[in-house]
Amino acid sequence: MAQYIVKASDRFAGALRSELGGCRRLGTDTYIYEGNMPEDPIFVHSAYRIDAKCSLDFDAIRKALAELIPKSKSFAIECQLVGKRGAGRASLGFGSREIEVRAGKLLEESGFIANLHNPDLVAVIVAVGNTAYISILGGAIRKGRDVREYLNRAEKKFIEAYRVFGLHSFRIRNTLDIGAAPGGFSKAMAELGISVVSVDPGMLDPALARIAKIRHERIRAEDFRTDRTFDLITDDMNMHPEQSARIAASFSKNLEEGGLLLMTVKCPTRNPIRYMEVAMGELNGIFRNFRFKHLESNKSEVMLLCEKA
Ligand SMILES: C[S@@+](CC[C@H](N)C(=O)[O-])C[C@H]1O[C@@H](n2cnc3c(N)ncnc32)[C@H](O)[C@@H]1O
Repeated sequence: MAQYIVKASDRFAGALRSELGGCRRLGTDTYIYEGNMPEDPIFVHSAYRIDAKCSLDFDAIRKALAELIPKSKSFAIECQLVGKRGAGRASLGFGSREIEVRAGKLLEESGFIANLHNPDLVAVIVAVGNTAYISILGGAIRKGRDVREYLNRAEKKFIEAYRVFGLHSFRIRNTLDIGAAPGGFSKAMAELGISVVSVDPGMLDPALARIAKIRHERIRAEDFRTDRTFDLITDDMNMHPEQSARIAASFSKNLEEGGLLLMTVKCPTRNPIRYMEVAMGELNGIFRNFRFKHLESNKSEVMLLCEKA
């Protein structure tokens, strides 16, 4: 049976355990799971199939990698230290970056081909205490460090949701963004060429005033009326999901056929399933094809994407 290192939020550990049918916590936001990985898990941020496990010392890591990486393929190493700050550092005397560089150098000295920017294979080393869990990702493109400057966490959340839900494959020309301020979602959408009506009694960031694709309606969503139609409604209002979903549903008449709703389901407790069900209860019949995902950039909330019924 395959074993995986699973990255997921400790906040929703209970939901993760029921989704996987059990898993063991190794350290902060890190779990080990044995079994078949569900196809589209909601609470799993990433899952690395474990190809080797060794002690956290350079010789053991070099040996394990040398057995897993063919000399004909180029490689890069990505290391993540798990646990209290310095737990991994304590046993090796190095941080993750130094482990990547030093293990990479040792392999290069033995005739392996390092390629940091476009490797054939990425060796992921997850270091927990004195143990290194190693996974080889084939044909992977390195994620690299995220150097983009975000207006706020919401912008990051929208960009991640856009990627995870494959929103590029839908024709989205205009959006009604409710709970829009200070404008992270709106900014990200405008940069994708989407026209946005941003509804929020709060102010948008002044930088957004220059963006012609964004029109701010400074009003509560429940008081906003329009005859316009949209391809997408985004709802990130900070309120109970029942109320939030009810307001979003009231705009379904403004959605084109097959239009989408992307909603943040805020979860006031650590039982997200309860709030996901509450939101679905409000939207069912009006919307269909419900897909939920707890994103890396989500905190006490889960993203929901659904389609007008
Ligand atoms: C998490 S913030 C939204 C962040 C935003 N999506 C972004 O991208 O920057 C929640 C927002 O919901 C707004 N909000 C709360 N109740 C609302 C209502 N009844 N109608 C419209 N917006 C509301 C708040 O004013 C606040 O700006």
